[in-house]
Amino acid sequence: MLWLLFLTLLLLGSSIAGTPAPDPENELVGIVGGHSAPQGKWPWQVSLRIYVYHWASWTHICGGSLIHPQWVLTAAHCISRKDADPSAYRIHAGNVYLYGGKALLNVSRVIVHPKYVTAFLGYDLALLQLSKAVDNTAYIRPVRLPSASLDITPEHQCWVTGWGAIGMHQSLPPPYRLQQVNVQVVENEVCNQHYHKASGHVSDDSTLIQPDMLCAGSEGQDSCYGDSGGPLVCRVSGSWSLVGIVSWGYGCALRDIPGVYTRVTTYVPWITKQIGTCL
Ligand code: ARG
Repeated sequence: MLWLLFLTLLLLGSSIAGTPAPDPENELVGIVGGHSAPQGKWPWQVSLRIYVYHWASWTHICGGSLIHPQWVLTAAHCISRKDADPSAYRIHAGNVYLYGGKALLNVSRVIVHPKYVTAFLGYDLALLQLSKAVDNTAYIRPVRLPSASLDITPEHQCWVTGWGAIGMHQSLPPPYRLQQVNVQVVENEVCNQHYHKASGHVSDDSTLIQPDMLCAGSEGQDSCYGDSGGPLVCRVSGSWSLVGIVSWGYGCALRDIPGVYTRVTTYVPWITKQIGTCL
């Protein structure tokens, strides 16, 4: 149980992407093990902001994905509470630079999955409705949702993107350019075994990796703190599909400890229902 507490602390600690002084000795690589993303390659990637009085600025707390001109999909754990005030959030879209000077978009509605309690139990997703629909441009465009029946395997070509930490103790340095990394999907059963080993509970057969979760990543290639809510996309018959939402993990990019994502296919019916009734 202690390790769960440890995970929780990590998760909580990750909510604010800190901005300590950059270390010029270190090359700009990351999410963890990634590279700077070309402008316009991941046009659905957005940054979720809250106002931090201490810095007098709208500060990045999580990633998110545009899935419709007026809707952003993110992680439930990025939202402070189920009845969160939409006016407490802003969305930044259309720029690989986190503080690229683009206008922030207002949020008019927040829908946290009603069964969400904590990321470790699943249901880690939330929808944000934008006050105004965005126009498609070269740099802003929604990603497609997978079909609910899509089976994601380790053979899929998958990438995760974000402005999160580039190492367990290293946040992304200025100018905060979006990072991308190719990650391999790990089957739930295998991932569950890895997490049991990591927690020292090898003999108990509880399910740590729920069916609505999906694992991806390997030693040196993973998402990390501050990437939460952001997209894991896989190539499906020639186009990118939003397959996962960055949710949680034990540390980042450790050997045999993949990152854990919300499995989007599970929630496609729920998502389309929410969006459909609000149009
Ligand atoms: N919970 C983290 C966040 O809030 C995401 C952690 C992902 N960890 C991982 N090893 N993939 O940003």
